[in-house]
Amino acid sequence: MASGERIPEKMMAIAIAEPGGPLVLKPERRPVPEAGDKEVLIKVRAAGVNRPDIAQRLGKYPPPPGASDLPGLEVSGVVVAVGPAAPRWQVGDEVCALTNGGGYAEYVAVDATNALPLPAGFTFTEAAALPETFFTVWHNVFQRGRLRPGETLLVHGGSSGIGTTAIQIATALGSRVVATAGSAEKCAACASLGAVRAINYREEDFVPAVKEATDGRGANVILDMIGGDYVSRNYDAAALEGRIVQISTQGGAVGSADFSKLMVKRLLHTGSTLRPRTFEFKGQIADELETRVWPLLASRRIAPVMDMIFPLKDAWRAHERMEEGEHIGKIVLDVG
Ligand SMILES: NC(=O)c1ccc[n+]([C@@H]2O[C@H](COP(=O)([O-])OP(=O)(O)OC[C@H]3O[C@@H](n4cnc5c(N)ncnc54)[C@H](OP(=O)(O)O)[C@@H]3O)[C@@H](O)[C@H]2O)c1
Repeated sequence: MASGERIPEKMMAIAIAEPGGPLVLKPERRPVPEAGDKEVLIKVRAAGVNRPDIAQRLGKYPPPPGASDLPGLEVSGVVVAVGPAAPRWQVGDEVCALTNGGGYAEYVAVDATNALPLPAGFTFTEAAALPETFFTVWHNVFQRGRLRPGETLLVHGGSSGIGTTAIQIATALGSRVVATAGSAEKCAACASLGAVRAINYREEDFVPAVKEATDGRGANVILDMIGGDYVSRNYDAAALEGRIVQISTQGGAVGSADFSKLMVKRLLHTGSTLRPRTFEFKGQIADELETRVWPLLASRRIAPVMDMIFPLKDAWRAHERMEEGEHIGKIVLDVG
């Protein structure tokens, strides 16, 4: 293993003391992980906060076997050690990466293929806001949903970390985006990112609004994080041959729908979760992102929407902010 600066034995990390509210997130001294053969060790400068971290804190989303018990699915930082089978990276490289948990810490070891270079001109806090939503959106909207230029994408939760990413990438790659969000301010944010129509779902039924925005045709791809009664309404809002991709079920994992609509419209309803997929699979997403999306970041055609930044030791405040539901875009932890 090649390494540069002296790496300490212990680090500060934020652990989940027990399942519960934000205050169960506690600073702890932990051993610094070692880079395995195919891994790089990153000195973390910033870590992104994602809704799945909250589910993990509540005890509802246990880490997969072999993963760190510490929360944190994405980081940015500097490579400080490189495993022998991780030839792409060198000590001193500035990267952002998807982690297998453990991002809320001063050091994290990641599979080398799941790291990407910091986009040109990006700060560490901006770069930490990229991996989880960009990998998720790329796989679900473009690989699974096969969104094409000229088609319409409906994004539920348009002002979320995932939503703000989906609106921007899809718009930049030539699709039309319609988004739903829960306030006028959130709808304005969606529109400013490129959504041709932003629907305040608290005041308006999204089904007729999507039809109106698509001259009656409906959305070609729907990215849904709600589930519940949205399933049936998504079938109504979808175009012929539409693809509906489920990435969460915040409104309920169980629901009913009229499946004749699935047949008549020849719809495809699919879904996925990113975390349990193999490093190789995530590495393939990273390759496509670097080719297709990283240039859009480097040119500032797109950029993460930054909500608030908290120090690592105050991770509990970051979770509180996310659970209050007022945020627009990404919440990030500054690790220093
Ligand atoms: N499957 C995967 O691989 C994967 C990976 C990462 C994240 N996710 C999921 O993606 C979702 C977003 O994650 P995030 O980190 O971006 O979280 P986030 O920023 O907290 O977003 C959650 C969003 O859900 C919206 N929402 C709640 N009820 C809604 C409704 N009835 N209609 C429309 N929007 C509604 C909220 O917006 P309002 O305030 O406007 O209601 C909020 O913007 C989470 O559910 C997360 O678990 C899935």
